[in-house]
Amino acid sequence: MKIGLPRGVQDILPEEIPYWHLIEKTARSIFEKYNYEEIRTPIFEYTELFVKGTGETTDIVMKEMYTFTDKKGRSLTLRPEGTPGVIRAYLTNKIYTSKPVWKVYYIGPMFRYERPQAGRYRQFHQLGVEVLGRKDPYIDFEVINIAVEILKSLELENIEVEINSLGCSQCRPKYREALKSYFSKYEDLLSPIDKERLERNPLRILDSKDEKVISLKEDAPQPLDFLCEDCKKHFDKVTNYLSIANLNYKINPKLVRGLDYYTRTVFEITTTTLGAQNAVVGGGRYDNLVETYGGPQIPGLGFALGIERLILLLKQQAKLGIEKQKLLFLAIEDENYLKKAIEISQVLQKNFKVEVGPLEEPLRAQLRLADKIGADFVLIINSSLIERNFIKIRDFKSGEEKNISIDNLIETLNTML
Ligand code: HAM
Repeated sequence: MKIGLPRGVQDILPEEIPYWHLIEKTARSIFEKYNYEEIRTPIFEYTELFVKGTGETTDIVMKEMYTFTDKKGRSLTLRPEGTPGVIRAYLTNKIYTSKPVWKVYYIGPMFRYERPQAGRYRQFHQLGVEVLGRKDPYIDFEVINIAVEILKSLELENIEVEINSLGCSQCRPKYREALKSYFSKYEDLLSPIDKERLERNPLRILDSKDEKVISLKEDAPQPLDFLCEDCKKHFDKVTNYLSIANLNYKINPKLVRGLDYYTRTVFEITTTTLGAQNAVVGGGRYDNLVETYGGPQIPGLGFALGIERLILLLKQQAKLGIEKQKLLFLAIEDENYLKKAIEISQVLQKNFKVEVGPLEEPLRAQLRLADKIGADFVLIINSSLIERNFIKIRDFKSGEEKNISIDNLIETLNTML
């Protein structure tokens, strides 16, 4: 039996890697400029971390986690998102005792048992940031701005920032109650799972994929109408800063996001080429999450960007100028020059991308391989030239040949490539 690939995961083959490198390099350099440091947290954590943080009535926790028990019977889960692990690391390492503000970024795989489709996988990769210890609205703007800057640097077109506010522990309960009483009127139409959501966490009913609920949502109460004075001020300041920076945004009063920890600002970035539910970036503020995990009262916020989704979009736009390094191929006329070839390759490979041919095989066979693997230039060591300390170089595309001195091989190649 052939062993295939599990559903929803994929190989990232070498041809794809330049996209990954470009995105990672671009994001890293932007993160560093805004004074964020990299963090790498474990791929699996105690299940409880996600149940408590991401939220027990969310789709992620209810349906999508890869959970298993280890040999000692402990329940562990492959991380479905990056935020809980970062907060756990913040608490485990007591960062709050030494740093008033902690700004970190991460890049890595996440796992969700979702129905796979274009741009939605069971193993996917996110890059994101989390900021702990800042409650001011400027930082909400900064976080959104960083996400936009990454997308713009990669020349992604037609991006749209949607923003909303979910209020705080003061005003949220009023909104929850309003939502509950609105949907209670239609209780008979609700599926058992939506009924349970209505009871336990009315906000999550808004994630329902049920057609009836989707149409009921149209007239459902909206969080912006319930904000307290402080939350309203905070939201106005964030949108004002976005305007000052000329960053296009749209207030979407229906945006609630599918994770439980958010307070105040939530945002998503979509492009007009993706369906509405397919955001490329999602994020927001979570002022109570650290406390939920038993830590001090420290505000936080962040975002995560889906790398696969971004690549899909960039490919659709035929963007991404990925430059390929030229490939040199080293061949020899016969085995007498094997030692020389090894010596030269040692120097060459410190400077260029070099494939050394099958040196024991006839020159013809070596050149055939050079052609097949798409070498740009072939360097040939032969008897008439090597005595004068010269080597032949052939441009594989044009067929042009010339002899160059081995003494200034690197300099000459540098000017040619
Ligand atoms: P999220 O909206 O669940 O937020 O995910 C963020 C991004 O990850 C999505 O916009 C999407 O691009 C990508 N993504 C999510 N699920 C999949 C999937 N199954 N396949 C491919 N891509 C996917 C979070 O994860 C939060 N932790 C973001 C955050 C950070 N909020 C505050 N800090």
